[in-house]
Formats: sequence, C-alpha cells, structure tokens
Amino acid sequence: MTQDELKALVGQAALQYVTPGEIVGVGTGSTVNKFIDALASMKDQIPGAVSSSEASTARLKALGIPVFEANDVAELSVYIDGADEIDAQGYMVKGGGAALTREKIVAAQSRRFVCIADESKLVKTLGAFPLPVEIIPMATARLVRQFEALGGRAQVRQKDGAPLVTDNGQHILDVTGLQIGDPLAFESRVNQWPGVVTVGVFAHQKASVCLLGTSGGVKTLT
Ligand code: A5P
Repeated sequence: MTQDELKALVGQAALQYVTPGEIVGVGTGSTVNKFIDALASMKDQIPGAVSSSEASTARLKALGIPVFEANDVAELSVYIDGADEIDAQGYMVKGGGAALTREKIVAAQSRRFVCIADESKLVKTLGAFPLPVEIIPMATARLVRQFEALGGRAQVRQKDGAPLVTDNGQHILDVTGLQIGDPLAFESRVNQWPGVVTVGVFAHQKASVCLLGTSGGVKTLT
C-alpha cells in the first residue's frame, strides 16, 4: 500500500471515534484531510467541527460540515489529528503543517486525542523530525541560541523566499539535532522560554489512542 492509501485507511477508521450528535475536534495535515473527506459521509449525524487551521476549516466548509469557534464550545469528547512522530507512549511531535498552536488548543479542550498516522511516523525516541516551535519574531535570535545550548540547530521556516507566517501571524523555528528522551520535561522547559508561543512536543496533550496504518491493516495502539 502507498503512504497515501495508508493515510486514507486511518482517516476512514477514525470515523468509529466520532459520536453522532456531538461536535468533533479536527486537526490539520494530509492524513486529517483524508479523515475530513470521510467525515462528509457523517455530516448529517453531527452538528459540526471545531477546526485547528484555516486550511482544515476551508476543507470542512467545502464539504458542507459546519465549523464552530473553539470559544463557543465548552468541551469536545474527541480530537482527531495526525502527527509527524509518535512514540509508544503516545507522545508526539507535531507542527509540520505549521498549525501546532491551534492544534494544541483544540486538543486541550478535548477529552480524548485520537492520532491517525501511517507507520512511518512511529519512532522510539522523538527528535529525528525537525521540531517545529511557533515563536514571536522578535525573540528569534535568542531562541536560536537557547536551542543551540541544548545541542540543536534552529532555522526559521521559509515560504516563497520569506519567513512563513502562521495562522496566528507568527513564525516557526524548525530545530534539528535534538533527542527528546523526556518529552514531558522538555515541553515544560521550552514552554517557559519567553517568545515561545507553542513547542511542537505534545506530551501534556498526548494521544490516548493511535490508529496506525500498516501494510497489514490498521493497528490500534493505546
Ligand atoms: C500540522 O501542523 C501537523 O501537526 C500535522 O498534524 C502533522 O504535520 C502531520 O501531517 P501529515 O498528516 O500531513 O503527515
């Protein structure tokens, strides 16, 4: 099976976690796009979704699925999203699509995080994928030095020859060379650095379930 087919497989499988009558939290990325496409088959059974990015909002609306503001919904029973890396404990690196801040916000208001990913995303230790960190631009130089002190190399993500601007009007640092052995401690530590909006380690908002697309079918990791 191709990676695209594996993404479609887990996108479809995630429908079992959508409760009829309830709003669903929706992440961002190519795997979630498959989930959104599958969700269209249930659109008459749910009130709608809370979305984690402008891109997912546009896709949901194009399929006729209403989108609610996060502030207008108290709690969600489930949030469905992809990952750039996930380990056996459900700790993740996210933000390859630059939507990490809103993803963490929607994840935090959800009782359950269902991660959907193809098997290439499963790792022993987080850190091989360049770690995305959303930052306030005026803190860039100092944050680059702080990551250097941890043994990392941080670069401002570019798009069309200029720094990429997130949905929140900020920039992204991608940090290579890190081995994140203690994701909970790492997330807490980097969160305290002034100028960091969101670090792409999802340890406090880890996955409760991971639907992993493999050539042998969907494996459920809990
Ligand atoms: C978006 O900012 C990310 O957190 C995505 O969830 C992550 O990059 C996975 O994306 P793909 O499903 O496209 O691999």
